[in-house]
Amino acid sequence: MKITVFKDERTLARTLAAHIAATLKETPDLVLGLPTGRTPIRLYHELGTRHPDFSRATTFNLDEFLGIAPDHPGSYRAFMETHLFSRVNLPPDRAHVLNGASPDPEEECARYERAIADAGGIGLQMLGIGTNGHIGFNEPARELAARTHRVTLKASTRRSNAALFGGDARGVPKEGLSMGMATILQARRIVLIATGKSKARCVALVVKGPITTRFPGSFLQLHADVELMLDEAAAGGS
Ligand code: PGA
Repeated sequence: MKITVFKDERTLARTLAAHIAATLKETPDLVLGLPTGRTPIRLYHELGTRHPDFSRATTFNLDEFLGIAPDHPGSYRAFMETHLFSRVNLPPDRAHVLNGASPDPEEECARYERAIADAGGIGLQMLGIGTNGHIGFNEPARELAARTHRVTLKASTRRSNAALFGGDARGVPKEGLSMGMATILQARRIVLIATGKSKARCVALVVKGPITTRFPGSFLQLHADVELMLDEAAAGGS
């Protein structure tokens, strides 16, 4: 696992945006896996400022809330439109986000897996990490799902998403759809970004904790090409 520590969030976001821009230049038909959350916002804005050429790229978001429409302001689709999709030249039909309003969520998950396979698999998967160790909506549990699936969200995850739903965790959907652990781990390269002191403990567990379904991020230790990009505060515990 490669670990790169930056002096602050801004430098991290700039360096990673430059890396993505260079990768897109080399591989214009790059398939990117994308996270939501507070952490990637700076990165997305940096990409919007640099505007690398996304015209031949494809993206797949990690997860989405279940039971709300893509145009709901709290949806991850809406988040992505605001922070990235509206700022770059990514063709809308190649910006994939699970449809949380699908009448058949299981079929939606199966469709998403097929779409990823049809695109040739994910080349570069960007990840954030929850303080409870979740990646995507793969929450700590006795068992983890391999493939894209329907998931019950933890109270802590609903709390950390409250801002998207008027500040009230009770307004956050109770379920989501998420890429599975195998979907994520089959990406050819993974870059996890984490910033701030609140992430120091979980970053340390990603790097050197036991591999356990109780901390899904620990499974990244099994992947051959993972880079952690951290600010000094998040790197403090590892
Ligand atoms: P955050 O979320 O970027 O808002 O901390 C990360 C995550 O839950 O994956």
